Amino acid sequence: MTETSSPLLSIRDLQVTFVTRERTVHAVNGVSFDLERGEVLSILGESGSGKSVTLRAVQRLLPERRTRISGEIDVDGEDVLAMSGPRLRDLRGGEVSMIFQEPATSFDPVYTVGQQIVEAVVKHKGVTKEQARRRALELLELVRIPSAADRLDNYPHEMSGGMRQRAMIALALSCDPKILLADEPTTALDATVQIQVLLLLQQLQKELGLGVIIVTHDVGVAIEIADRIAVMYGGKIVESGPLADVVRDPQHPYTQGLLSSTIHAASRGTRLTAIPGSPPNLSAPPTNCSFAPRCRFAQDECWAAIPPEVAVAPGRMSRCARIGAWGDEPQGIGQLGVEAA
Ligand SMILES: Nc1ncnc2c1ncn2[C@@H]1O[C@H](COP(=O)(O)OP(=O)(O)OP(=O)(O)O)[C@@H](O)[C@H]1O
Ligand SMILES: [Mg+2]
Repeated sequence: MTETSSPLLSIRDLQVTFVTRERTVHAVNGVSFDLERGEVLSILGESGSGKSVTLRAVQRLLPERRTRISGEIDVDGEDVLAMSGPRLRDLRGGEVSMIFQEPATSFDPVYTVGQQIVEAVVKHKGVTKEQARRRALELLELVRIPSAADRLDNYPHEMSGGMRQRAMIALALSCDPKILLADEPTTALDATVQIQVLLLLQQLQKELGLGVIIVTHDVGVAIEIADRIAVMYGGKIVESGPLADVVRDPQHPYTQGLLSSTIHAASRGTRLTAIPGSPPNLSAPPTNCSFAPRCRFAQDECWAAIPPEVAVAPGRMSRCARIGAWGDEPQGIGQLGVEAA
């Protein structure tokens, strides 16, 4: 079942549509990417671009009845979309673990942090309570919580925000996951604590050889720890590649806008709202480039069809009609610049 040659996580043409009586939302419209072992991928994009839905799809944590989902999600070569109930429970508490933005919502306030980690370890590892408590202590030490033995008996509200987030990471690691999905794991924390938690995640990823996906609004966060980035817009990845290459020479006008507005505005914590215009309407499936209404380079062909993924360099992809038009010309649109809004 485990093929070491296959990527740790491989997503192909993922489509997620929510259908309710009131409306239909085409939240994810053909997302494909791979995550390798030991890699940190950061998914970046404005609010509503489909980042959380993409992560939740990997754990199949989407409302069963009103979600239409298609494509392929393989974890270690096994198709998640074909998994049944018991196998899914094992996946969620085993190979794939998720950290959410607000740890207060992930811990139950009426049990101690230790009890909750112990329960997770017992459930997924089938060990005794005593063994699980030893493991819980090791985990709190692993996430660098000081006086870990005492902290095991703390209730979640007795910990500071940063410490609770560390404990949340310990809980997420309690089942030895291969993939850690982190959905805006530091947004609720203040800047200095954010950096500590991010650096911790980066260290743990290296120590444990995990594949990590960090979803963020914040370019500064992505730049801090990612190996690769994928930029989402309107439920599609519009650009992806090694972090340094994309930051140095972004190929998609949306990426250029994000980077120039955020980097010029200097920084961490800046929400990605600086590009004029509104996000696309997701109630109809896209038929053209979703970014065209906001793009200063838009031309007829951008309105005529969805631009295909173009390999702009090894390991680099962008979906922009203008890239195809320029062929191999090295001066991509990255050189044209975008006005910071
Ligand atoms: N369960 C659901 N039912 C209906 N629509 C949903 C559901 N979950 C998400 N959506 C919609 O899907 C779209 C994408 O949502 P998603 O949560 O992935 O955005 P996001 O990129 O994570 O945004 P944010 O940065 O604000 O967290 C949004 O329009 C959202 O309203
Ligand atoms: Mg989200």
